[in-house]
Amino acid sequence: MTQDELFKVLVAHCKEYGFIFPSSEIYDGLAAVYDYGQMGVELKNNIKKYWWDAMTRLNENIVGIDAAVFMHPKTWVASGHVAAFNDPLIDNKDSKKRYRADNLIEDYLGKIEEKMDKEVEKGRKRFGEAFDEAKFRETNPNILREKAKYDEIHGRYKKAEETNDFAEYKQIILDCGIVDPISGTKNWTDVRQFNLMFSTQFGSLGEGADTIYLRPETAQGIFVDYINVQKTGRMKIPFGIAQIGKAFRNEVVARQFIFRMREFEQMEMEFFCKPGTEMEWFKFWKEKRLKWHENLGMGAENYRFHDHEKLAHYANAACDIEFKFPFGFKELEGIHSRTDFDLGNHQNLSGRNLQYFDPESGEKFTPYCVETSIGVDRMFLTVLSHAYTVEELEGGESRVVLRIPAPLAPVKVAVLPLLKNDERLTGKAQEVMNLLKYDFNCQYEEKDTIGRRYRRQDAIGTPFCVTIDHETLNDGCVTVRDRDTMSQERVPVAELRARIDAKVNLNNLLRNL
Ligand code: GAP
Repeated sequence: MTQDELFKVLVAHCKEYGFIFPSSEIYDGLAAVYDYGQMGVELKNNIKKYWWDAMTRLNENIVGIDAAVFMHPKTWVASGHVAAFNDPLIDNKDSKKRYRADNLIEDYLGKIEEKMDKEVEKGRKRFGEAFDEAKFRETNPNILREKAKYDEIHGRYKKAEETNDFAEYKQIILDCGIVDPISGTKNWTDVRQFNLMFSTQFGSLGEGADTIYLRPETAQGIFVDYINVQKTGRMKIPFGIAQIGKAFRNEVVARQFIFRMREFEQMEMEFFCKPGTEMEWFKFWKEKRLKWHENLGMGAENYRFHDHEKLAHYANAACDIEFKFPFGFKELEGIHSRTDFDLGNHQNLSGRNLQYFDPESGEKFTPYCVETSIGVDRMFLTVLSHAYTVEELEGGESRVVLRIPAPLAPVKVAVLPLLKNDERLTGKAQEVMNLLKYDFNCQYEEKDTIGRRYRRQDAIGTPFCVTIDHETLNDGCVTVRDRDTMSQERVPVAELRARIDAKVNLNNLLRNL
């Protein structure tokens, strides 16, 4: 299935069964923003619980926090987001395509370099062994002409970059005659500063100084709270701080359903360690996080590591865990060794001492940090795209079933009286509901034939359907139907709880980690 086809099918299914709706749909929606419906929120909460418990309950040295979305604006200066999350964008009016203006200029400069290199290669061929490249570059008129052009443009470009002079970016593009690779025209809009951070006004004055940002990552909430948690929790290095929360990015490419959203949720854990030990912990967390994924039983072959060769300015190692979506392997989670970049910068900018005193060695140091960072929504898409199955049945029929790992399923049990107008059956079914509802998310359904009700439960991924029929009134047994095998079994009501629990309890997943 192509990405477009899959998204079409999933979007329709998610909407029909109450998983995901376009945000403010009655006003035609909002690009790359989605709401989770009555089923979606349950699945999302289960994913978050699996992560939260795996981090905070299974690791004695990891605690959780819930920091505010609004943070002091200096936070984003220290983190580098004010300087580095800015893209200068330009649109071509004919192709309607959007480009980063800096990329267009860099590509142009790259082409001049290529021309000079070609000239050098010609010289090498002509002069053979006697060829002196440095001298050739200093004297060859063609190279000198190209070099002068390069230096002039490069100088202007660097100055424009330093001063954020977007008019100059556009002028360079016009002066160099850079054309849109698609339309071939020079019909450009002005260059606009496009910071991926959303900003808003804080307080009521509406002056520039009140501008604050919606956080583009949850991690910075952890860094600024680091010292409070370390001191009040008497945490000893190495230790971690986990957080789940909303993040906001004004993404340029935003046509990928919940893969790339403008408002999304992250599950991040920052693990603070002694400088010099970070590579050990980086390796440790790579393995640990992969195990967390594989433990869901969605196929070890569907995951792979992708080590970054080009590192962000703050990292000394970075790796993605990629998942094989039906449209190919794509990033699901990032594991980054962030050195002391964040704590160091916050220390400098705030003037607060964020150093750790090691009581055993008597040393003081700014801790290094290894981060694990995963998007809840992207994890949701992983589960959903893997679970969505169209199955051919005997007799030419088919069913759509969501094979969601049972502990994550939004509804665990459907309780179904065989007939809706027989009070003995509906009464007994309510009794079964009352027995199960404290342990599991249950759904009571009495409308339509049993077959149709099974199909509806398959379509939302309910692992068990429990049917109450006339025999139940005599023998105290119910029919338990399994979502995956469709097998049916008579089970005494007294054994129901334990039978369901064995398959859907999240703790069983956690025990295997
Ligand atoms: N603190 C590090 C950080 O934020 P990132 O690679 O930018 O790193 C981490 O993001 C994870 O957050 C990604 O692997 C992805 O799962 C999720 N994510 C990032 N941008 C997203 C978006 N626009 N929509 C949905 N999920 C996103």
